[in-house]
Amino acid sequence: MVRLTINGKTTDVDVDPNTPLLWAIREQVGLTGTKYGCGIAQCGACTVHIDGKAVRSCVMPVAGAVGTQITTIEGLAGGGALTKVQKAWVDHEVPQCGYCQAGMIMAVAALLGAVPKPTDADIDASITNICRCGTFQQVREAIHAAAKA
Ligand code: FES
Ligand code: FES
Repeated sequence: MVRLTINGKTTDVDVDPNTPLLWAIREQVGLTGTKYGCGIAQCGACTVHIDGKAVRSCVMPVAGAVGTQITTIEGLAGGGALTKVQKAWVDHEVPQCGYCQAGMIMAVAALLGAVPKPTDADIDASITNICRCGTFQQVREAIHAAAKA
């Protein structure tokens, strides 16, 4: 049994400690907003926050997340009101198919937490998530809009 705190709620999950955090979040806890893309830390679809930092959960063993605060896309808005990143995503109509977008938003929220006014170079260095629909330009515009909000 592994004890995890996800979106402020503590849950015991019955998995091997080496199970990737992604599968515990999706299969055991039932939070399916976090997506599986590549399984090898390349695409970012599985991005969650651990203590506020963006982490690719497909390669993190659940044991590594014990004692941390895990946040998924379902918990990002906290009290229910959209965050400025989510608002900018709506205003700029960023998503196409949407599959990569939860991970993208989590990565961007962590970036803005660390660097409130990122430059294009900061964005290029931090947001390495892959979007097969090619929403990169809209993502960039929405990041700058969220930074100004
Ligand atoms: S599924 Fe984790 S980085 Fe692609
Ligand atoms: S919106 Fe379709 S993969 Fe990014």
